[in-house]
Amino acid sequence: MKVVLAYSGGLDTSAAIGWLKQVRGATRVIAVLVNVGQEDDFPMLEERAYRLGADQVHIVDQRAAMAEQGIAPMLKLGAVYEQDYLLGTAVARPFIADALVQAALESGAGAICHGATGKGNDYLRFEQRVKILAPGLQIISPWREWACNGREEAQAMVAASGVSIPAKSFDYSVDANLWHTSYEGGTLEDLGQAPAPFFTEKMSQTGEVTVSLKWEKGTPVALNGKHLPLAELITQLNHLLEPTGLGWLDLLETRTNGLKSRGIYHTPAGTLLYKARTALNQCWFAKPTLDYLAKMGTDYGRMLYQGLWQHPIQKAMQAAADSLYAETAGTIALKVTGATVHILSREASPNLFADQLGGFGHMDQWNAAYSEALVFFQHLQNYSVPAEFGIQQPV
Ligand code: ARG
Ligand code: SIN
Repeated sequence: MKVVLAYSGGLDTSAAIGWLKQVRGATRVIAVLVNVGQEDDFPMLEERAYRLGADQVHIVDQRAAMAEQGIAPMLKLGAVYEQDYLLGTAVARPFIADALVQAALESGAGAICHGATGKGNDYLRFEQRVKILAPGLQIISPWREWACNGREEAQAMVAASGVSIPAKSFDYSVDANLWHTSYEGGTLEDLGQAPAPFFTEKMSQTGEVTVSLKWEKGTPVALNGKHLPLAELITQLNHLLEPTGLGWLDLLETRTNGLKSRGIYHTPAGTLLYKARTALNQCWFAKPTLDYLAKMGTDYGRMLYQGLWQHPIQKAMQAAADSLYAETAGTIALKVTGATVHILSREASPNLFADQLGGFGHMDQWNAAYSEALVFFQHLQNYSVPAEFGIQQPV
């Protein structure tokens, strides 16, 4: 049987190449390396896969798709998980799965293999997407079949193929793409310990950066006056923010299976874009819309986290967001100092901050009767209805 492997170039998916052939009897292994913006040496990883016995290696660039179909709706909805997590790993997984399925259908493969353990969230995200797109494909998860000392087994398997993968000098499980880098495991599993200096040094950087962002229909379209496709805009913004300490998060989250997991996330451009979005939303939208967006952001974030990608409810929320943002435009200038964001200026259309009504100094356009009427109507909502109305007081 031909097998398509989600190959990242790391130890586990490198070991999986030989394992699929020797243990699982795969006739051909098609390694699919998906570019979601991780800054890896792709030609080197491709060559490594061939040396490990892959029959074909496909490098698939999913950066634009992930930005336009994954990140853009997240930004409109303000999607978050457990208040703060900006879903960097969650948003990439469906686009990796899409590339795997496409490779399988094109090559007539009967199975897809991925290297996620069965304890986190990633296997759920991959497998749910594959099941929806191609229910007939078999899913092979080496971590479900390797013995409990899976890591050592993997190491031995790679060593046996005569390929050397640099011994891990880094103690964390890292997942990187154009939206974020995540770190889990290692000393982070001890809640009694502060993040290692590797993190705290970066978190406390004090660099200063000023940027302007132009938005159309709820999506950033230009950075410092230059129009850019979204994936490119995010990548450039991440680089600009390098001297700052913006976008770090140390989170104890609840995985889909209920287990708690501590992760450190670095989402610099994402953090700034969410702040900019919030500041522009304040101009664009009235209170019911802001409240509704906040509710959808929580629901959308949870569904994305749990791998319910393109669930009918998710699609409905995306359509709602497209409609709410259809007529919006704006430009915002922000200054980042260390990990703090200052709003320098905002121009928005529409802009509900109508100066003559909202400003403190101008009473001329405001009718004093408005104030009295509002007190009266609020009073009704307090369940104390005036006796002269002849309405019974609720008990
Ligand atoms: N806990 C985060 C999430 O579920 C990050 C997962 C990181 N994945 C990884 N393979 N290192 O979205
Ligand atoms: C894994 O367990 O493979 C990585 C973490 C996750 O899936 O959440």
